[in-house]
Amino acid sequence: MLSQPSHINILAIESSCDDTAAAVLQNGNVLSNVVSSQLIHELYGGVVPELASRAHQQSIVPVVELALKKSGLNLNQLQAIAFTKGPGLIGSLMVGSSFAKSLAYALNIPLIGVHHMEAHVLAHFIPEPKPSFPFLCLTVSGGHTQIVRMDDYFSFEIIGKTIDDAAGEAFDKSAKLLGLPYPGGPLIDKYAQAGKVSFKFSQPQIPDLDFSFSGLKTNILYFLQKEVKQNENFVSENLPDICASIQDAIIKHLMKKLIIASDQTGIKNIALAGGVSANSGLRNAILQTGIEKQWQTFIPPFEFCTDNAAMVGITAHYKFLAQQFEPADTAPLARF
Ligand code: KG4
Ligand code: ZN
Repeated sequence: MLSQPSHINILAIESSCDDTAAAVLQNGNVLSNVVSSQLIHELYGGVVPELASRAHQQSIVPVVELALKKSGLNLNQLQAIAFTKGPGLIGSLMVGSSFAKSLAYALNIPLIGVHHMEAHVLAHFIPEPKPSFPFLCLTVSGGHTQIVRMDDYFSFEIIGKTIDDAAGEAFDKSAKLLGLPYPGGPLIDKYAQAGKVSFKFSQPQIPDLDFSFSGLKTNILYFLQKEVKQNENFVSENLPDICASIQDAIIKHLMKKLIIASDQTGIKNIALAGGVSANSGLRNAILQTGIEKQWQTFIPPFEFCTDNAAMVGITAHYKFLAQQFEPADTAPLARF
């Protein structure tokens, strides 16, 4: 039997999409958490995969060096290297995984592969208070929208998911219709804070705990086309109210399913994860509903909501404890 080191120091790398991130954790505590976001994609209104992988190649060494420097540790003090194995853009994942593999090989320490969405959920185990099992996690990002029932760190069931677009996509595509730059989610949130819900969009009618956002997007498109025909300045004159109305429609759909999930399972420990959990309206809705429904709600601090490597590190910490390591010939997976 291997003796456990007195400290579990893990360097974690996240490169699944357009953020190059590295973090160092000691015994599950975050010593450093560095994120370099790629601004180049703004020019194209969305993430361009080839440009994303090139930018990861340029950023990965300085980002890892900075994370190590901020942590106060050096490479020889690490017990494992963790990386995002998938899902994500394959070229982006290749940069992070190749880097992690080479470093683990050179240092002769284990490699830990982490599922990106699992990492978003387990980000709840970075700050206090940590949720107790079982809990439900509404996981909302640019690529996923799920309700996950978590029974243990690595024992979970996806009990609801989107059948088309993700919630983040709904925000970003709506923003694009309004002429806002990518990624539009945070901008809709910003404008919505100065607006009121004045326009009504149809609510998706999807059975069970599943979600759908594509109909809402079409509804918004037709609404804007009709209004702009009558007044070409409609968008600029009403931007905050339009944003507040779009945000409200997305949040209502998310909250409706989350409430049903809690009622059906009887679980009142409710967590929010993924990039869209940075949305102020969604945060408020969960907190308010939580008070009414006597939920215990868990919303991670902002820096652990959007893509970051600390969430990969905390997942890797529990994998280290469970001795779940990755073979040296591992390869990333776009779909995982
Ligand atoms: O988890 P994440 O950083 O990356 C993925 O794994 O997809 O999520 C990114 C998504 C984008 O769609 C972005 O627009 C959205 O999260 N997002 C927001 C906000 N901040 C980020 N959406 C609405 N309001 C926000 N404040
Ligand atoms: Zn993500």
